[in-house]
Amino acid sequence: MKDFNNKTAFITGGSQGIGLGTAKLLAQKGATVAIFARRKPVLDEALKKIEAGRTRPDQKFAAYSLDVSNEKEVNDMLGKAVSDLGVPDILINCAGRARPDYFGNIPYTQFDETIKIDLYGTWNTCSFLLPLMKKRGGYIVNTSSIVGFIGIFGYTDYAAAKFGVLGFSEALRSELKQYNIGVSVLCPPDTDTPGFVEENKTKPPETKAVSAAANILKPEAVAAALLKGVAKGDFIIIPSTDGKFTWIMKRWFPWLVDMVTDSQVRHTQKKMASAK
Ligand SMILES: NC(=O)c1ccc[n+]([C@@H]2O[C@H](COP(=O)([O-])OP(=O)(O)OC[C@H]3O[C@@H](n4cnc5c(N)ncnc54)[C@H](OP(=O)(O)O)[C@@H]3O)[C@@H](O)[C@H]2O)c1
Repeated sequence: MKDFNNKTAFITGGSQGIGLGTAKLLAQKGATVAIFARRKPVLDEALKKIEAGRTRPDQKFAAYSLDVSNEKEVNDMLGKAVSDLGVPDILINCAGRARPDYFGNIPYTQFDETIKIDLYGTWNTCSFLLPLMKKRGGYIVNTSSIVGFIGIFGYTDYAAAKFGVLGFSEALRSELKQYNIGVSVLCPPDTDTPGFVEENKTKPPETKAVSAAANILKPEAVAAALLKGVAKGDFIIIPSTDGKFTWIMKRWFPWLVDMVTDSQVRHTQKKMASAK
């Protein structure tokens, strides 16, 4: 998909952060955009910002409240959006969240919720829309993370979900080629969003130490990289240079990545012990 003008995009998690950044950029490029998230007031505010980027009078913008982890809500609301705006050319699954903590502090309920939002949520939207999209082709972007290919300290539940998103997307890419549907996985590094602010509240010091060296991106930069990656048909879209470097290192020198992160963790734990 080289051009987004006149295309219809559905974006889960489009009310803030990376999803909103992507929705605004698509509006500026002439797309019709529907956003999906749970909180109605946040959706309404986001819709105004997206509409401000309108480039043509016939572009449509809409917002729908749903929880991606609830299959029935997904089917009902995506069904409504399809009848309002038509079958999307591009589906961007951006809804998700991280609550890092020590494994022993993560209750089963959090694990369950993380998997349901980040992994099942992606499955649910694809399940509903793919039978419709298969008839004419299109594009799907699922959002994983750097934590979707490197299991970082403090992210046990989140890594399980985001590794899952990567594997799901790889299998889906292979199956959907015959229908002229492209699949990409977005793997953002730390990005300055409301979700990232929440995430930092529970982050163990060891987790902070491992990610300290990486640059923090703006959601607009991630959105621009996402659309560039889709236009090029890249399967993995990693928006930052240090993220791309981590991907290469993890593939070719996994032992070195473990050595570096283990040493960062050890060093932080020593500092914590001596501060007691
Ligand atoms: N920011 C980062 O550093 C970073 C790094 C790597 C990967 N990611 C991934 O990138 C994606 C976007 O992250 P972000 O930082 O932009 O997050 P964010 O600022 O928290 O925005 C998350 C969006 O998803 C929606 N959402 C959350 N849970 C939902 C649910 N159960 N059903 C429907 N919508 C839901 C939120 O709206 P409601 O709460 O109103 O539903 C919001 O619109 C996530 O998948 C995240 O895991 C983020």
